[in-house]
Order: sequence, then structure tokens, then C-alpha cells
Amino acid sequence: MITFKENNKNVDEFNLLYDSVGWGAYDNEVSKKALDNTFYSISVYDDNKIIGYGRLIGDTICFLYIQDIIVKPEYQGKKIGTLIMDKLLEKVSQIKKENPCLRVYLGASKNKEKFYEKFGFVKRIDADLGYGMILKK
Ligand SMILES: CC(C)(COP(=O)(O)OP(=O)(O)OC[C@H]1O[C@@H](n2cnc3c(N)ncnc32)[C@H](O)[C@@H]1OP(=O)(O)O)[C@@H](O)C(=O)NCCC(=O)NCCS
Repeated sequence: MITFKENNKNVDEFNLLYDSVGWGAYDNEVSKKALDNTFYSISVYDDNKIIGYGRLIGDTICFLYIQDIIVKPEYQGKKIGTLIMDKLLEKVSQIKKENPCLRVYLGASKNKEKFYEKFGFVKRIDADLGYGMILKK
């Protein structure tokens, strides 16, 4: 049975998912701090086995970033990513009631843009904004 948990901060599960999609897990202490400083997260399970994860980071009221949307390869294409995004966006809607000016960002991995477009995300350039930028080193 597919279930989910909010705000689970299990380092082993997080690292397992990172490894499963070839990102290479962080050291345990790094993952722990990342999870401790996460505002909100969704972990998805098939029975008791972790199969997906996604989180919101940010100042919790004005700016939030969607980060680390991960579905284990053998579960991809079964709407688990959609479940994770829907739950994160439910949380976003709650916060928008408190602050309608809330802005939500994400950095799509290459070729994942279409997945996020399904949830209303647009490329910044299409919203007449500058490019998103990242510090390379
Ligand atoms: C990207 C990812 C989270 C999608 O999760 P998923 O559970 O496979 O996606 P879903 O089954 O919920 O797909 C929802 C829709 O998005 C589409 N979609 C999913 N991945 C896509 C992709 N890479 N490109 C285009 N469309 C995609 C699906 O076809 C589906 O379309 P439909 O609603 O018309 O049927 C998952 O493939 C993944 O974990 N990838 C590896 C990690 C990663 O790159 N994460 C994103 C970091 S930015």
C-alpha cells in the first residue's frame, strides 16, 4: 500500500533515494543538517519501504524552494512524483493564505522541465524574468 509521511527526517532513507537516482548521497552529517533545516517534506512509502521524497526549503513565508523531488527508478511513471508535488503545493496554498505574495521557485534538472510544467511552473524567461542563476564553484 502506498502511504506518505510529513516531515520525516530519516537520513538513511534520504541517502538511499539520492543514491537510487545516481546523485550520490551526502555524508550522513550533511544530510542530517539538510533535513533538520527543511521546512516541510513528504516521504512516500510502498508498505514500509521508502520510494519517494520531496521537500520545501526557504524562509517559510515569502520565498520557498521545491527541492529534491525523487522517485526510485522502479516506481517512476506511476504518479508518485505527482503525489509528492500535490502535497507540497497543498502546503504552499496554506501559506499563501497567510502571505499571498509568497513566491515558489525550483531548479529543474535537465529534461525534467515538462514534469514541473504540469504543476503550473514556467521557465523564468517565459514569465519575462531573467534567467535563474547558480554559483558554479
Ligand atoms: C522527475 C520525477 C520526480 C518524476 O516522477 P514520476 O513519479 O516518474 O512522475 P509521474 O508519474 O508523477 O509523472 C507525471 C507526469 O509527468 C510526466 N513526466 C515525468 N517525468 C518527465 C520527464 N522527465 N519529462 C517529461 N515528462 C515527464 C509524466 O509523463 C506524467 O505525464 P502525464 O500526467 O501526462 O501522464 C522522477 O522521474 C525522478 O525522480 N527522476 C529522478 C530524479 C530527478 O531528476 N528529480 C527531479 C529533479 S529536478
